[in-house]
Amino acid sequence: MFSSEIVSVGMYAPEKIVTNNDLEKLMDTNNEWIIQRTGIEARRWVDANTSTSDLALKAAEEAIAKAGIDKKEIDCILFATLSPDHDFPGAACFLQPKLGLSEIPSIDIRQQCTGFLYALSIADHFIRLGTYKTVLVVGAEVHSKGLDKTPRGRDVGVLFGDGAGAVILRQKELKDSKKDSHILSTSLYSQGEFAKELWVPAPGMANGADRMNNEMIAEGLHYPSMNGKKVFMHATRRMCECLLKELDKNNLKLEDIDLFLFHQANLRINQMIADELKIPQEKVFNTIQKYGNTTAATLPIGMYEAEKAGKLKKGMLVASAAFGSGFTWASSVYRW
Ligand SMILES: CC(C)(COP(=O)(O)OP(=O)(O)OC[C@H]1O[C@@H](n2cnc3c(N)ncnc32)[C@H](O)[C@@H]1OP(=O)(O)O)[C@@H](O)C(=O)NCCC(=O)NCCS
Repeated sequence: MFSSEIVSVGMYAPEKIVTNNDLEKLMDTNNEWIIQRTGIEARRWVDANTSTSDLALKAAEEAIAKAGIDKKEIDCILFATLSPDHDFPGAACFLQPKLGLSEIPSIDIRQQCTGFLYALSIADHFIRLGTYKTVLVVGAEVHSKGLDKTPRGRDVGVLFGDGAGAVILRQKELKDSKKDSHILSTSLYSQGEFAKELWVPAPGMANGADRMNNEMIAEGLHYPSMNGKKVFMHATRRMCECLLKELDKNNLKLEDIDLFLFHQANLRINQMIADELKIPQEKVFNTIQKYGNTTAATLPIGMYEAEKAGKLKKGMLVASAAFGSGFTWASSVYRW
């Protein structure tokens, strides 16, 4: 039986920094409200000519270079995003030729904030089965072009940012399962009855005769709509629950984990999880202050920044959990 190892991580965030004060000018909000409720201080926005696959390309190129592999060794691309370049084909199909690759499978994963862990899990299973040896897993989002940047959209508009992260996953035969870097386990969940608590209604084939029309645009149905309190409540509950189950599955205790990397939806959610589970705050690494919620990109960005800050080192045992639209949630334990 094979295992998979995360051999490298890359990231890219657009240069343009948008602070809370910048948003004050657009959407009747203020720095104090945003910081107090979410912990977010700034986020990045792309320029008009940059798309999601462009961000993914830069993160992927860095991950490939750090892995020291020839990109032709990549057997499969898994691209987690809720903001693809176009409705179809998927963003992975646009990324593949930008990377100079051809013919390998290019798959989009549409699981929103949980997308990266879904993609990681699928890649891990492909590798364990021996189907592929080297998989590129990317999470990338361009939110800024899809937000309502007026007072009407302020509850959602302040939360999200643009960015990308990518990892190279490689097949490995474990010599010592207690010491070798590898993915110990992943678990995936969803509860579609809550699909409309955080969603973008249009365009959509369920919208009557037209998937999109002027009335829908006038109503702002092409912008994300969220029941913030419900999402908050379910996120804290589900992330705690799945994290504990994941540890249990591996006969591990919370104290065995060296670092917790959670999805970055709201700093207050992650602080509540740490409080609830009595995890020391210094064992939880957050990036939301700088980047906002970059959805499928938050976890690889977290890995990248934690490694750069010296908080994530080879051999460390890491636990991740994420929650998002769908509702979907997921968890994983891996040795870095
Ligand atoms: C979005 C969130 C920060 C809002 O916090 P909240 O405490 O639930 O705030 P509410 O929506 O109840 O709004 C409280 C007040 O702030 C106002 N408000 C909303 N957005 C605002 C903003 N950006 N700036 C200033 N005021 C704002 C509301 O209009 C409301 O005013 P009122 O009391 O006069 O009616 C919080 O619900 C949240 O983080 N939810 C989870 C979001 C999430 O994780 N999304 C991604 C999923 S992966």
